[in-house]
Amino acid sequence: MTSVTEHSGGRARGTAAVVAEDLRLSYGTHAALDGLSLTVGAGEIVGLLGPNGAGKTTAVNVLSTLEPPDSGTASVAGHDVRRAPAAVRAVIALTGQYASVDEELTGRENLVLFARLLGLRKAAARARAAELLTAFDLLDAADRRAATYSGGMRRRLDLAAGLVRDPAVVFLDEPTTGLDPRSRLALWAAVRELRARGVAVLLTTQYLEEADRLADRIVVIDRGRVIATGTPQQLKEQVGGTFCEVTPADPADTPRVLTVLADLGADAHDDAVALPAPDGPATLTTVVRRMEDAGIAMTDIALRRPSLDEVFLALTGHPAAARADDDLSAEEPPAAVSADADTDTGVDVREAAG
Ligand SMILES: Nc1ncnc2c1ncn2[C@@H]1O[C@H](COP(=O)(O)OP(=O)(O)O)[C@@H](O)[C@H]1O
Ligand SMILES: [Mg+2]
Repeated sequence: MTSVTEHSGGRARGTAAVVAEDLRLSYGTHAALDGLSLTVGAGEIVGLLGPNGAGKTTAVNVLSTLEPPDSGTASVAGHDVRRAPAAVRAVIALTGQYASVDEELTGRENLVLFARLLGLRKAAARARAAELLTAFDLLDAADRRAATYSGGMRRRLDLAAGLVRDPAVVFLDEPTTGLDPRSRLALWAAVRELRARGVAVLLTTQYLEEADRLADRIVVIDRGRVIATGTPQQLKEQVGGTFCEVTPADPADTPRVLTVLADLGADAHDDAVALPAPDGPATLTTVVRRMEDAGIAMTDIALRRPSLDEVFLALTGHPAAARADDDLSAEEPPAAVSADADTDTGVDVREAAG
């Protein structure tokens, strides 16, 4: 190992860096992977999305050579995971939910140590550590013991340690689980930076908004098999088009709203009533007119696209196991990372009716 950046030049964006075909792996009679196939291109972020127990970690373990599959094939940067595990390990970084940094060392010492273990000379190791500390916004904390770092800083240091070698493929297993919103955003920025440098990123997550915001392509798995794949946009379109959501001013009016809009396929939806809006604004105008004719006051009416939550529910038949807002701290409003934040089409009742 002479230079830590020697891989970069050879990366051709768009070529498949990870190719998995029909992977199967059972624990006893339980199929953790039940014919899983996926690809990740260089310079692409693929989100492996699925509920708890879907097989995400097992998939990452197989692709990173920690566990051999029972059958099926997988290659990483052209190296077969079963025939050439050492070659695979030489070109990947794997970071998980549990940081592998040494708490007693400073951030800088941790990175220098990793670099030295990879055979870099002292000066090169120090230079590489400084580069990564800067890239991950850890320079101010560089000379503090890692034990004093926040969860988010530790996760970034962990990721930085995996990048000492400039990998071609990075596996991130639930990298932001349990992080506060600010740390999550910082980690997302770091992952996007990897993509910009042509690294292939496979990221597992239970957070729909994480997949929605970060991934170029999403592979939804359940019970060890792929149940849908596409860009976040494609998945939303696949599950259902635009719909119209009406919120009556008085919740007691909900049954009347349902009756008045029954022929349009209206359905109760939390505090609101939702119906398909294949004609977009025209449907919305129809709804406004009917509400006026029936004398029902509304607090809100809007055209919306399905959220990834709804996509997930439609695909798997059950809601996502976890949502990022479960662990949002109070420092930022939920809207900052909400899956619904960018699903509004921005049409509101004043524009439509006026
Ligand atoms: N070492 C193991 N022994 C037995 N069962 C396991 C083992 N690891 C995972 N499993 C099972 O395989 C399935 C997939 O697990 P996992 O890949 O960890 O899912 P995910 O990461 O999506 O939550 C689960 O049903 C889990 O209980
Ligand atoms: Mg897991």
